[in-house]
Amino acid sequence: MNRREFIKTAAVAGAGLLVLPGGVRGGENAPSNKLNVALIGVWGRGLAHYDSLSSENVVALCDVNEKRFPDALKRFPNAKTYVDWRKCLDQKGLDAVVCCTADHTHAFIANWALNRDLHVYMEKPLAISVEESRVARANWLKKKAKLATQVGMQRHAMQNFNRVRELVRDGAIGQLTAAYAWGDRQIRRPGYLPAEGQPPEGFHFDLWLGPSPDHPYNPGYFSGGAGMNCLSWNMYWDFGAGQIGDMGSHTMDLLWNAVDAGLPTSAEAKGEKFNPDVTPVECESHFDHPANDWRGPIRVSWYQGGAMPASPKPYVDLKKIDHGAMFKGTKGYVIADFGSRILLPFGDDSDLTYYKVRAKDAVLPPLGHFQKQWFDACKNPSLKTACDFEYSGNMIEQLLLGLVAYRVGKKLEYDGTTGRVTNCPEANELLSRKYRPGWTLNG
Ligand SMILES: NC(=O)c1ccc[n+]([C@@H]2O[C@H](COP(=O)([O-])OP(=O)(O)OC[C@H]3O[C@@H](n4cnc5c(N)ncnc54)[C@H](O)[C@@H]3O)[C@@H](O)[C@H]2O)c1
Repeated sequence: MNRREFIKTAAVAGAGLLVLPGGVRGGENAPSNKLNVALIGVWGRGLAHYDSLSSENVVALCDVNEKRFPDALKRFPNAKTYVDWRKCLDQKGLDAVVCCTADHTHAFIANWALNRDLHVYMEKPLAISVEESRVARANWLKKKAKLATQVGMQRHAMQNFNRVRELVRDGAIGQLTAAYAWGDRQIRRPGYLPAEGQPPEGFHFDLWLGPSPDHPYNPGYFSGGAGMNCLSWNMYWDFGAGQIGDMGSHTMDLLWNAVDAGLPTSAEAKGEKFNPDVTPVECESHFDHPANDWRGPIRVSWYQGGAMPASPKPYVDLKKIDHGAMFKGTKGYVIADFGSRILLPFGDDSDLTYYKVRAKDAVLPPLGHFQKQWFDACKNPSLKTACDFEYSGNMIEQLLLGLVAYRVGKKLEYDGTTGRVTNCPEANELLSRKYRPGWTLNG
């Protein structure tokens, strides 16, 4: 059993055996087993966490928009409220943080929380620069024996993720040689929005900007519905990583779960004309990954905004899959969306005799409830989470490196140990972001 399969089995086998960091044991609902949680970003995506959070003690609520507090307090009446997450994280007695803020603050909040010995559930994406993702991953790896992390790629709990993994891992397509993921969400914006009006009373726009460079207020950044407002800001370079951080996190996860990759050794990308304000809509990026203990070297590709991999057969119209993944092997293809998959053997010897379907008792068990997997791991450090900061950090670092390759327009050679591009000095300048004075990534 390799690491991914161990994590999935251990997480299921261990559920219910709860041990607090202090060694307190109890039934799942015993008061002694409840976590003291801070929810940062209480509206929008934050609302989606209310039901699972209700099994714990929500003791702190933080939002840059004070108008969001009255409703949140109805659900979590014992919580203190904050507008600045830095102050919130210093509340005494916290165990854990669930963070649903805008993407440009994710790595900051992750690092500050880990540095205060708090478990972290971070909405995707973990980071919007290569450096941010590396720092968050490194901070967690130092503390992984006692802290649990999870990035909000909750589709990972869909059972199809395991079925796709089993097909690829067990040789249904022979030896894996390449894997492709794509997303077709296309939201076009010309550039940052012009100054318009004043932030409404109680809305701390300067705190919303946080570490990012100054931009004037415009209500257009905040005009989306609950859980969709990220589509009003996540395409701007200073606030997000476009579709990579949005649906790309979910869809690359479907691929990533099946290939057991770490960091790539190269990245190359091409796309529409560079816009200094807005991340590209149409873009494709390609990465070389070395062999591991069960497969040879592979090429991983990401396509977005209309760019698509070629279909292996004209009768399979990949464009009909808005967000999908495809795996190419020496004897065929697996093509999948989040909930289903097809197997397409090819070649004269693709008779499937080389492939043995798993015995029922070797089928990967369901992950269960994705947020609960993290709660359980917070309470029992021997339990693992599926989308911890190593798995998710490697995944997003690769995709963000692809954006750097797109910007310099060259094939980059990458040293994942040092986090440096070895053949293009100007690319190294783009691995990190410049922050406003007063904001520290690893504070
Ligand atoms: N896992 C998923 O399926 C999924 C779905 C939707 C959104 N998301 C993620 O959730 C995050 C939030 O997305 P959204 O659409 O809810 O955005 P949003 O703009 O509505 O923000 C959510 C809440 O966070 C608050 N907030 C923003 N920045 C803050 C800060 N620095 N400190 C405190 N509060 C802050 C906002 O005021 C709002 O109440 C994004 O990172 C997005 O990628 C994940």
